[in-house]
Amino acid sequence: MTTIAEPRSYQVITYGCQMNVHDSERIAGLLEAAGYVRAPEGVQADVVVFNTCAVRENADNRLYGNLGHLRPVKLAHPGLQIAVGGCMAQKDKDIVLARAPWVDVVFGTHNIGSLPVLLERARSLAASQIEIEEALTRFPSTLPTRREAAHAGWVSISVGCNNTCTYCIVPALRGREVDRRPGDVLAEIQLLVDEGVQEVTLLGQNVNTYGVEFGDREAFSKLLRACGRIDGLERVRFTSPHPAAFTDDVIAAMAETPNVMPSLHMPLQSGSDRVLSAMRRSYRADRFLGIIERVRAAIPDAAITTDIIVGFPGETEADFAETLRVVEASRFAAAFTFQYSIRPGTPAATMPDQVPKQVVQERYERLVDLVGEIAWAENRTFEGRTVEVLFAAGEGRKDAATNRLSGRARDNRLVHVAIPEGAERPRPGDLADVEITYAAPHHLNADAGPTNLRRTRGGDAWAAQQAAAAEPDAPRPAAVRLGLPTRT
Ligand code: 5AD
Ligand code: SF4
Repeated sequence: MTTIAEPRSYQVITYGCQMNVHDSERIAGLLEAAGYVRAPEGVQADVVVFNTCAVRENADNRLYGNLGHLRPVKLAHPGLQIAVGGCMAQKDKDIVLARAPWVDVVFGTHNIGSLPVLLERARSLAASQIEIEEALTRFPSTLPTRREAAHAGWVSISVGCNNTCTYCIVPALRGREVDRRPGDVLAEIQLLVDEGVQEVTLLGQNVNTYGVEFGDREAFSKLLRACGRIDGLERVRFTSPHPAAFTDDVIAAMAETPNVMPSLHMPLQSGSDRVLSAMRRSYRADRFLGIIERVRAAIPDAAITTDIIVGFPGETEADFAETLRVVEASRFAAAFTFQYSIRPGTPAATMPDQVPKQVVQERYERLVDLVGEIAWAENRTFEGRTVEVLFAAGEGRKDAATNRLSGRARDNRLVHVAIPEGAERPRPGDLADVEITYAAPHHLNADAGPTNLRRTRGGDAWAAQQAAAAEPDAPRPAAVRLGLPTRT
């Protein structure tokens, strides 16, 4: 008698940036293409994959903490496999196995496609497998995908970074910038739109230098304009631009392309010219403020967000005061604030005058207060105004008690929308207009509910995904598909 084995289940745990979130969708897609199924919530998966980040030290600590917790679980679950990929794996290679020998597979940022084979090999040989490649040979976009949201997708336009910011480990881990050809990018976007996607986010470590590799300095603005010609594509976002390479053709393309959203995430890192120079960020505070001024002149409703590092080596109180000044002047809708974290191997790690922890903490708290105060004041200008919301999956669940659903305004602000008893419920991917009734520092509330609800193809795609999930034998939803051929 033959027995049919249950398919093995998997779980992917992601740390870090959007690039990693996107890579995790590839990892999930690869595993599904290899016959694995996603483990239901609360059920121990047969394969646990950590997609790691190395940008700050606390990510390292969290990873080893989690691996430690899994050790007894593994002893109790024979057959459980653990894989570690992403930037930390790339950085630490053998250290992962030295610290956590119960890990089965270690794979790098350039070879996520090898994961299913490595898992299989680890199982059949009963030995841990490490495979780290130094350079990218194939764009990850050629790999299968399992998208988290039916209505939204990430599209990478480049990987790697040619900058040498002295605090940053990324160039050492993701390598030099490789740009994907515009035709390939647009073909992928078209395919996503055909599957019901309403919103795409173009991803690159440094999107403004897109095209330098193939000799077109205006390639990014042309790409934005080409996105504007794709029928059915409602919203286009991108992350992240570098202030040094930010050119006015990008501002013009943003302003003149209706589906490119009025939101801009542009990392400041520091407001002090001295610190920017030590960071090897080749712009100065005035240039940063100049870009903001031109963006606001061309796109008055743009929400601008940023990243800031506090306590870079040698940062004085006067330098920090410059950061506060630029933050005041920039009126950020939100800012991701980080305490400087030493990354061994980067130039800043060995710089003199590392700032003592208490000083960093104290400055950090002042910065967070200022950022929150400005974000709240900016948000309050929305009270009484009507904004268009694209409902999102996931973000609203926590608010079940108040029956609110969440979504994003065009400028990417988070909006919680009350759904009146008996009213039609928007699905993730649907659009509506809502009046803002209350502003908090990090979100807006719309308590009168949605008006002018538009049921969209994105909402239909979400409904199809739900139906497929409830019916395991049904054909795969469009959000799971094989990769695209590309020239890279
Ligand atoms: N320490 C603190 N923050 C860092 N970032 C990058 N490297 C470091 C570091 N060594 C921050 C930057 C970057 C964001 C993704 O992480 O602000 O924009
Ligand atoms: Fe790191 Fe600077 Fe490149 Fe961003 S631009 S990835 S901070 S080196």
